[in-house]
Amino acid sequence: MSISDTPCDILFFGALGDLTQRKLLPALYQLDRAGLLPADTRIIGLARGSEPAASAATSEANLRRFVSEQDLDTATVAAFLAKLQFLNFDFGAALGYASLKTLLDEKPDRARVFYYSTAASIYGMISKNLHDADCLDKECRVVLEKPIGHSLASSHQVNADVAEYFAESQIYRIDHYLGKETVQNLIALRFANNLFGTQWNQNHISHVEITVAEKVGIEGRWGYFDKYGQLRDMVQNHLLQLLCLVAMDPPSDLTADAIRDEKVKVLRSLRPITDDIRDSHVIRGQYCAGEVEGKAVPGYLEEPDANTSSNTESFVAIKAEVRNWRWAGVPFYLRTGKRLPEKLSQITIHFKQQPHYIFDPEQRALAENLLTIKLQPDEGISLHIATKDQGLGKGMQLRQAPLQVSFAKAFDMDRVPDAYERLLLEVIQGNQYLFVRRDEIEHAWTWCDQILANWSDKGDPLPYAAGSWGPEASYSMMNGDGRKWHEQK
Ligand code: BG6
Repeated sequence: MSISDTPCDILFFGALGDLTQRKLLPALYQLDRAGLLPADTRIIGLARGSEPAASAATSEANLRRFVSEQDLDTATVAAFLAKLQFLNFDFGAALGYASLKTLLDEKPDRARVFYYSTAASIYGMISKNLHDADCLDKECRVVLEKPIGHSLASSHQVNADVAEYFAESQIYRIDHYLGKETVQNLIALRFANNLFGTQWNQNHISHVEITVAEKVGIEGRWGYFDKYGQLRDMVQNHLLQLLCLVAMDPPSDLTADAIRDEKVKVLRSLRPITDDIRDSHVIRGQYCAGEVEGKAVPGYLEEPDANTSSNTESFVAIKAEVRNWRWAGVPFYLRTGKRLPEKLSQITIHFKQQPHYIFDPEQRALAENLLTIKLQPDEGISLHIATKDQGLGKGMQLRQAPLQVSFAKAFDMDRVPDAYERLLLEVIQGNQYLFVRRDEIEHAWTWCDQILANWSDKGDPLPYAAGSWGPEASYSMMNGDGRKWHEQK
């Protein structure tokens, strides 16, 4: 990995927020530890209502909490903390931006990265204030955290507000799934291996399953989550990005726009979920009390601060269809939920069987080749193939066996870098290919808005016990097509 030589100022708006403390500062620490931060980098935390010394103390304590102990050593921590400084900063007050400008001007000729980790509704205001105080230049970059809006209209507004002050080439919209090693590996798997390249279409693939399951519930995030729900929080961004990377045509090269153009084509080809198919193609659920890993846990409506009449969904399963030549007739089953039995993100490609089967018909199910791409945990890829069972007395008895690559073992990695490490590095280096372009976000919202239309009039989400794989109806949706989710096999 090359290190950018240009010194850099990285400014975090919302420096004491959960994301900055739990993910962003630890990610920068890891980059610094690996020698990947440009020399003389300044990290400037802007936090409302907190004195600099208090912000620094909180950040140091959280760094020690969120970075694993074996990666913390006194000299590296001290060197990292020396790069950090904080300002008590009111995002709406012009005065603060004037002193920010003075601070920035102390070190001219360096790349400026403005990272907005606040509510998206104030992205426009912050951009205007930075502009009015003359803090922006042609080289600076702005990073926008999700969720960008709540619907197509609100996301359009946020994007338009920011676009008044930044060109699209300066805007880095985060979807942290794009920074995961295995997600990037999808591009290598598909386009560097002709074996898969030639099979990747409706002639050979029967269906695709994308599951992003979490064990955690909503806990302390009620205020945010209840306004969004699982469709806006996870499907509109992470699951649709995964679907795009699986379904897109080969880009002409690896530049940001070549990849994004192909992703946009997929989003435009998604079959709209109109009223007549919504009930058969979309299942939404909400967890009730149950057990996760043998521990009793409360239901969604019993979480602290819950609005007990909320009908926000914590689970969604969708049968999506990509209407183009490559994917005609190949459903993409998407599923994501909170309080499921395990933390698991995986894509499973189900290949079609041979047209004429010469083995024992009872063993036909074993002949399905499955390619499983595991994003987390235990990142890796496995291809399930049918083999003859070993032994003299077995005849032509078949058995499925995996060809497996575990990335940690294959590449002798002691730790898989967090997605934010990769993404921050790409921002510093000015590479946009792992970030989402405005039209991608807006096409994704268009599709989701249709699903959401009149959702609240359609009754409550279906209940499922915490610790289960979601409402029964999600099984019926899959089983009705003669298929099974991976855990049913
Ligand atoms: C975030 C969502 O974008 O992704 C959270 O807002 C979710 O609700 C998280 O828990 C999951 O990310 P990961 O990387 O742990 O799968």
